Amino acid sequence: MSAAIVEARAVRKAFGRTEALRGTSIAVDEGEVVAVTGPSGSGKSTLLLSPAGVLRPEAGEIWFDGRNLTDLSESDRTRLRRREFGLVLQFGQLVPELTAGQNVALPLLPEKHEARRGQHPRPGLARAPRRAGHGRCAPR
Ligand SMILES: Nc1ncnc2c1ncn2[C@@H]1O[C@H](COP(=O)(O)OP(=O)(O)OP(=O)(O)O)[C@@H](O)[C@H]1O
Ligand SMILES: [Mg+2]
Repeated sequence: MSAAIVEARAVRKAFGRTEALRGTSIAVDEGEVVAVTGPSGSGKSTLLLSPAGVLRPEAGEIWFDGRNLTDLSESDRTRLRRREFGLVLQFGQLVPELTAGQNVALPLLPEKHEARRGQHPRPGLARAPRRAGHGRCAPR
């Protein structure tokens, strides 16, 4: 159990023979703004993608809001990422035909379908796209 909203404890992640994280720990409190800095290849993205559930570390623990995410299934991690994380990736994973607001709202679409099928108790999520703004994410 942790008091921080996001915490990585002694996380280890390797890509083949490349050790991206060797027992890295970080704790972030709710409302805290943190910048992770370092040279290219030092493991910043790997560190950030672990709590978001995109990458699964080989060792260590990831905690989010008092929950240990370490052993969550792939689908539970996907659901968590969709519902509880906002993640802007480093390289162009935006859809240029959509507005910035539509891009931000895109992961909420499956939520809307689940809400329609009665599987999701948070109908407020289905309204979020309209509140998300309309600025374009890239020039046409
Ligand atoms: N999917 C992957 N497959 C193989 N190696 C990877 C992969 N992702 C990261 N690495 C390696 O892990 C190390 C850490 O990479 P990471 O992307 O976390 O660094 P970074 O600090 O975010 O770098 P940058 O500042 O360039 O974004 C690097 O040596 C990188 O080549
Ligand atoms: Mg990076």
